[in-house]
Amino acid sequence: MTKKLSRTSRIALFLAGLVVAAASHAAGGADNLLPANTQIGNKGMLQRGAAMYMNYCAGCHSAQYVRYSRLAEDLGLSEEQVMDNLVFQVDAKFGDTIVSGLSREDGIAFFGTAPPDLSLVARSRGPDWLFTYMRSFYRDPTAATGWNNTVFANSSMPHVLWELQGIQEPHYGEPVDGGDPPVEHLELIQAGLVTPGQYDASLRDLVSFLEYIGEPAALKRQALGVWVLLFLAIFTTLAWLLKREYWKDVH
Ligand code: HEC
Repeated sequence: MTKKLSRTSRIALFLAGLVVAAASHAAGGADNLLPANTQIGNKGMLQRGAAMYMNYCAGCHSAQYVRYSRLAEDLGLSEEQVMDNLVFQVDAKFGDTIVSGLSREDGIAFFGTAPPDLSLVARSRGPDWLFTYMRSFYRDPTAATGWNNTVFANSSMPHVLWELQGIQEPHYGEPVDGGDPPVEHLELIQAGLVTPGQYDASLRDLVSFLEYIGEPAALKRQALGVWVLLFLAIFTTLAWLLKREYWKDVH
């Protein structure tokens, strides 16, 4: 005879399932990724990240789901500030989406692959992957671009931030099963314009910006979330007081 689960045990099971799902989601993903520690609620970081993106990435990568006007609104900037400091496309208008300076055909001709649109890359790859990727370029004379990457092996993207970060060289470990020796760690052999700590901070800004453009509505949702939690807290207190009042004569 099958015994029906009580309502409480079913709820408990459901909650346990949620916890397991959340834990395995958090544990998933590639190994050895460093935490990006992004802060999409931090306007200063988003502004600096936007400047990084426009200066170093938009030359090759579009962000076709983002309009400059939306950036202005969300990042707390005026139309002038955006048009003067963030828009390098000569004929671009305030209502346009972020296009790249490179055509698809040229991208294929130069790199073998057209640089993908980055609007949703923080969702497909995740912030930690992006942060670690931008830190993991190393010099590789055998590669067409002169660069390779430990997170994205043989990526056809050159290390566009090498002047900031400096030049890293790989140290190899023991080869496994007769294959190529794996890169064990990277060593900075030529310092960049900024210290490693400053470089990481710039990447945090950049990845925060990429995360924001992946879901601009998240800004509003998080702001709203605070009010919802506050409401729930107050409401729970009221409900509890009311319950105490109703039951006080029963016992
Ligand atoms: C000189 C052109 C160029 C510039 C500038 C450039 N990239 Fe790339 N990027 C590429 C190319 C080409 C690829 C495709 C690599 C491949 O698939 O092998 C790529 C791929 C990527 C990917 C991997 C996307 C994916 O999911 O496969 C990310 C992430 C990325 N770029 C981020 C950036 C960021 C951030 C910047 C600015 C700091 C930047 N790129 C600047 C050319 C460029």
